[in-house]
Amino acid sequence: MIVEPKVREYICTTAHPAGCEENVREQIAYVKAQGPKAGPKKVLVIGASTGYGLASRITAAFGCQAATLGIMFERPASGKRTATAGWYNTAAFEKFATQDGLYAKSINGDAFSAEVKKQAIDIIRRDLGQVDLVVYSLAAPRRSADGVTYSSTLKTVGSPFTEKSIDLRTNEIVTKSVEPATDKEIEGTIKVMGGEDWEDWIKVLQKAGVLAENAKTVAYSYIGPELTYPIYTHGTIGQAKNHLQKTAEKMNQELNGVTAVVSVNKALVTQASSAIPIVPLYLSILYKIMKEQGSHEDCIRQMDRLFRTKLLENPMPVDQEGRIRMDDWELDEKVQAEVMKVWAMMSTENLKEVSDIDGYWEDFYKMFGFRFEQVDYSQDVDVDVRIPSLE
Ligand code: NAI
Repeated sequence: MIVEPKVREYICTTAHPAGCEENVREQIAYVKAQGPKAGPKKVLVIGASTGYGLASRITAAFGCQAATLGIMFERPASGKRTATAGWYNTAAFEKFATQDGLYAKSINGDAFSAEVKKQAIDIIRRDLGQVDLVVYSLAAPRRSADGVTYSSTLKTVGSPFTEKSIDLRTNEIVTKSVEPATDKEIEGTIKVMGGEDWEDWIKVLQKAGVLAENAKTVAYSYIGPELTYPIYTHGTIGQAKNHLQKTAEKMNQELNGVTAVVSVNKALVTQASSAIPIVPLYLSILYKIMKEQGSHEDCIRQMDRLFRTKLLENPMPVDQEGRIRMDDWELDEKVQAEVMKVWAMMSTENLKEVSDIDGYWEDFYKMFGFRFEQVDYSQDVDVDVRIPSLE
């Protein structure tokens, strides 16, 4: 069938299999071009099918020649409905990994559940023995635990917040108000996006004997500029990220033989970040300025730099709180001073001129496999793509 993008504000409900394969192929080519890197050899990536998790998996496999087990929550095609981008990405990843003789298996299911954890342990025990790196890169809307379903919310804490934002349906600058969360919403966001499940994973892996001695585990966080503090760092998601950081400290104190670290990454267009109010407008300005200053990175460049210059170093270069800072270039004063200047003068009329809104949309469509020059979108494609390891 011929697959076209169907965009509903911050989500695209279709994905193109050939375009997603091209996306993965390009990320692999980037990592290979940087040359091999000594590093982990058996890696578990939780949240491995899109965004930072996929880029981490690609870097581990094609940079460090690691065997990878990837966990994701994606939907296969059914009837006229395409699969999700993460499904096609994973099919492409496995195909390229196999071509290079690299072990790659995937689990499609709810990473928060005990069943998926057990499945992962069984596969690691059977095929790999132990893993030496666990990447925790989940971005999920909800989590069921102990019979309760918790939801993650993107709201402020304390008082409402009103700022410029972009209406992604019309590309117009609007004023957006975000209401403060209730205590229940704050608690829910911490349950879903905080560190509890990360710690559960590490503990069950260790207990099952499938975590190598001196293994590392990394989870991803964000801080951003003061401009977005009310909605991010001081908002509900920021509370969850604080919990993630506290969990890393707790694991380092309580668990022997494993090092846990949070890496604070750069803001990038992913399925998770597109849904945050105000952030897409910030991203479009940030892209323009970082591209002009020559410091822009996408997911694969961020993760490749993380693996090559920070995560695998001994000792790891970390800030006072023990976090890896991959947002160093984003938060550079030269970048942020420009962002604030543009933010103040930004309007619907000058949007295209002062921001990289086109670059924002380019990345957005590419996430779903569209707008790749190498792909002929007028051709019929088989949307029913299989993931070899799930057969
Ligand atoms: P994403 O939406 O691209 O990826 C989320 C991944 O989680 C996908 O692989 C998805 O299949 C998986 N997933 C979701 N729910 C699941 C479940 N119940 N079970 C198994 N897998 C599940 O998100 P992105 O942006 O790559 O986020 C990953 C992490 O990076 C998050 O913790 C996010 O807060 C953090 N981060 C993101 C930044 C950004 O600008 N995008 C910046 C800094 C940190």
